[in-house]
Amino acid sequence: MSLSREQMLIEMGIAPVWALRIPLSAPSLAAAVDASAPQEPVPCADQPSTIGAPEPSSPGAIQTLDWPALTKAVAGCRACPLCQQRKQAVFGVGDLNPDWLFIGEGPGADEDAKGEPFVGQAGKLLDNMLAALDIARGERVYIANAVKCRPPGNRTPEAVEMAACWPYLERQIALLKPKIIVLLGKSAVHAVLHDDKSLASLRGQRFEHAGIPVVVTYHPAYLLRNLPDKAKAWEDLLFARRTLREQAVPELPF
Ligand code: URA
Repeated sequence: MSLSREQMLIEMGIAPVWALRIPLSAPSLAAAVDASAPQEPVPCADQPSTIGAPEPSSPGAIQTLDWPALTKAVAGCRACPLCQQRKQAVFGVGDLNPDWLFIGEGPGADEDAKGEPFVGQAGKLLDNMLAALDIARGERVYIANAVKCRPPGNRTPEAVEMAACWPYLERQIALLKPKIIVLLGKSAVHAVLHDDKSLASLRGQRFEHAGIPVVVTYHPAYLLRNLPDKAKAWEDLLFARRTLREQAVPELPF
């Protein structure tokens, strides 16, 4: 379905009339309840790989991998307990020469099943946020996560899990060379900026990772639960777009 720009803004809650097209479902509530269940992490390092992928690489070795080798390493990663219950690692999706890199938290059930980030309800909102910026999934944008494997019950990834996954994301960023990075929510902020401050205190600022500008906004799943903050997210995206445009080398006037 293709929506007009006006419809996109309405969808994001920026226009006067707002309508939720994606009601929160009973399964998502069940998942939220399940997220509080105690987890018993068991490292994967002792388990035989079922994927036939290479041995896990050291963080230093990961920084030398090319894109295909990095993809393989992630598919076979057993560096943290999240590998145990995943159906598959979710590497990322999009343009390999992107202007924009959006980073979320980690795959949920839908993403784990499909092998692609942001394909559930939050993903639909993210697609609408992208469309409001006149970009479509796969064109000028790459989408990745702070962790590549689904945290059981969709709980927040642990700091050690994000630390184990960081070399992969770091290498993705180095290979993709986006012009701007947008961090969606606290986990992404924690992973990339190593900062635990509130999102509210970090919004509207320009950070940097490896010389690339980084901005912060709310996670789409949070926005689905906190509709008034969609307007703030739109402000953040406009700030990100201005920051991106500042990166562009001005065209010669003659
Ligand atoms: N939430 C995320 O942070 N990432 C996904 O891929 C899906 C939902």
